[in-house]
Amino acid sequence: MYVLGIETSCDDTAAAVLDNQATVHANVISNQDALHERFGGIVPELASRRHMELISINVERALAMAGIGMSDIGLISVTQGPGLIGSLLVGFSYAKSLAYAIKVPFVGVDHMAGHLLSAFLEKQCPAFPYIALIVSGGTTALFRVDGFSEFRLVGSTRDDAAGEAFDKIARALGLGYPGGPLVAGRAASGNAEALALPRSWLADESLDFSFSGLKTAVINHCHRLRQAGNLDESGIDDICASFQQAVIDVLVRKTIDAARLLGIDTIVLGGGVSANRSLRIQMRSACVAGGLNLYLPARVNCTDNAAMIAFAGLRKYASEGAGSFDDDVFSRSPLGR
Ligand code: KG4
Repeated sequence: MYVLGIETSCDDTAAAVLDNQATVHANVISNQDALHERFGGIVPELASRRHMELISINVERALAMAGIGMSDIGLISVTQGPGLIGSLLVGFSYAKSLAYAIKVPFVGVDHMAGHLLSAFLEKQCPAFPYIALIVSGGTTALFRVDGFSEFRLVGSTRDDAAGEAFDKIARALGLGYPGGPLVAGRAASGNAEALALPRSWLADESLDFSFSGLKTAVINHCHRLRQAGNLDESGIDDICASFQQAVIDVLVRKTIDAARLLGIDTIVLGGGVSANRSLRIQMRSACVAGGLNLYLPARVNCTDNAAMIAFAGLRKYASEGAGSFDDDVFSRSPLGR
């Protein structure tokens, strides 16, 4: 039996094919970066229209890549939320219609559950319980994960998500969109100690995050340098490196604190920002120093993809059964921000 995964929650039109042993046979992702770049962020209406153009093409590409036909699909798993409503509706309506037409069950899954379980797409899978740091454009959160559907939010951002902060800093510096990889690229040539930037630790032992103060400090610094005519290329590298380091310091320390406070020895990362090379290196060093096990999904499994949705759906279907044609999409996750 093969499961077809479909993901259209934001600006990636993705389709994947997994077998019931969770082996990935196809993982097709079309991002819309070029479409949204000139606006410095995602334009929801454009995103949904592009999903409409690409969804059936990408499903067909995934089936061809897996070497199977529609009649081999036994389950369709699709992102139900959270995300942009228009974008979600394209994938969700497509999945329901296809399930009806080819007479197979479908299951709607929480995008966050996909990220929380993405480590199971790898050869080495984590054991429960584990702490998951999900860090993307819309989310920065720590979860305690006790099973395939047992997720407890233990900390989350009170304002901006880390990826959102990367994107806004890139915009203020005129680097382009999406900002994360661009800021990370510039950071590689910069000095991470050039600027003394704030780290928001919040209350003692708080597992919540806050990145808006850091973001504002960096944007104000850029404006000051620009007004004085002092914002040169090496200054931009230094700003990127100092900003990135401030984000990483907080992400690493809070994740290690969560493991210590909850007495858990395994950590899993997920979400687009966890593709960041420096974050991966520094999280690895902190885990080695703390005697913790770290599971880092491959970068393609960290950013939005349909393979993680197919896997989460396979598990959800096994425990809860199929979705109903009356089901609707949702913009906010019941699992938390
Ligand atoms: O999980 P994701 O693919 O999509 C959603 O947020 O739904 O994450 C995208 C976010 C963007 O904010 C992007 O700038 C950030 O992840 N990102 C990175 C890197 N690659 C992607 N941030 C920092 N460093 C990176 N290498």
